[in-house]
Amino acid sequence: MTARVLITGCSSGLGRATALHLATTGRRVIATVRHPHAQQALQDEAREAGLDLHVIRMDIRDPSSVTRGLDEAGRLTGGIDALVNNAGVETAGPMEHTSEEDLIWQLETNVVGTYRITRAVLPAMRQARAGHLVFISSLVGRAARPFLSAYCASKYAVEGLAESLHWEMRPFGVTVSLVEPGRYPSRLTHNGRSTQPAPEDCPYGQLRAEYSAGLTAWEPDGYEPDAQEVALAIEEILNADRPPLRRPVGADTLATFDAQQGRTFEEYEHDVITRLGFNAWRRHL
Ligand SMILES: NC(=O)c1ccc[n+]([C@@H]2O[C@H](COP(=O)([O-])OP(=O)(O)OC[C@H]3O[C@@H](n4cnc5c(N)ncnc54)[C@H](OP(=O)(O)O)[C@@H]3O)[C@@H](O)[C@H]2O)c1
Repeated sequence: MTARVLITGCSSGLGRATALHLATTGRRVIATVRHPHAQQALQDEAREAGLDLHVIRMDIRDPSSVTRGLDEAGRLTGGIDALVNNAGVETAGPMEHTSEEDLIWQLETNVVGTYRITRAVLPAMRQARAGHLVFISSLVGRAARPFLSAYCASKYAVEGLAESLHWEMRPFGVTVSLVEPGRYPSRLTHNGRSTQPAPEDCPYGQLRAEYSAGLTAWEPDGYEPDAQEVALAIEEILNADRPPLRRPVGADTLATFDAQQGRTFEEYEHDVITRLGFNAWRRHL
């Protein structure tokens, strides 16, 4: 069993659920957060539940913070057997309203920060000829959606870097996996940037409303996504000697990937527009 796991971005959402879950499986879990209040809150929660969970501070945008955090993790557990790259942010809004600065902010966290911490753990895993590298990608890492161009770009980039790394690390016995969740409750939107102007000033307002309203059609009636599903998928990966490179999670992800399967993009597009009733798009089919 992968005994020592470091997970980034555990103050809320999928990272928090995964850290708490993995700590119940007998692993030594190091959860990273950015702020002292989040560190205290998660540490208290773990202590009350009797879990072996270390909470340390790390900002993956800051090289010295990553170095300090990994040093601290080394002192606490003597090293790590798995890294779960979960920390991330989201920029939402039409591309026309998304500035270069918004894009850079997006990529600096989801791509450069993820790259930074992953590179830092590679030498030890390569020398040990063992280790699991898990990347939290997204449904939109393989099926882009409108009004999320910067976020989709970041997740497509994560897919590319992880797949490339898979080829490099396979001969050394280090596994690489991408977890591709659909929609799950978290603080991602709240913590992110919205570049959408007020609806009355936005030429995309109507289009965006229509698109958002249709999206739940990917999900069965009464579907209530639960972050625990993502935590269980990550546990499954850590339990496997040869985990899959890609692990989709969630009803909307599975339905979307199924609609893409064996089709050209145009066939998939036609299916999405007709199935989800996107009238504004249908006129251009
Ligand atoms: N929820 C979904 O529907 C969904 C779907 C697909 C993929 N994902 C992915 O799942 C991952 C977790 O997101 P979530 O949905 O659970 O959102 P969340 O609740 O906002 O959690 C994101 C975590 O990342 C941390 N973070 C942000 N910037 C960071 C940085 N520079 N350094 C270190 N930590 C940082 C946040 O810390 P602070 O509290 O300090 O900001 C927070 O702990 C992300 O990669 C996201 O893209 C989410």
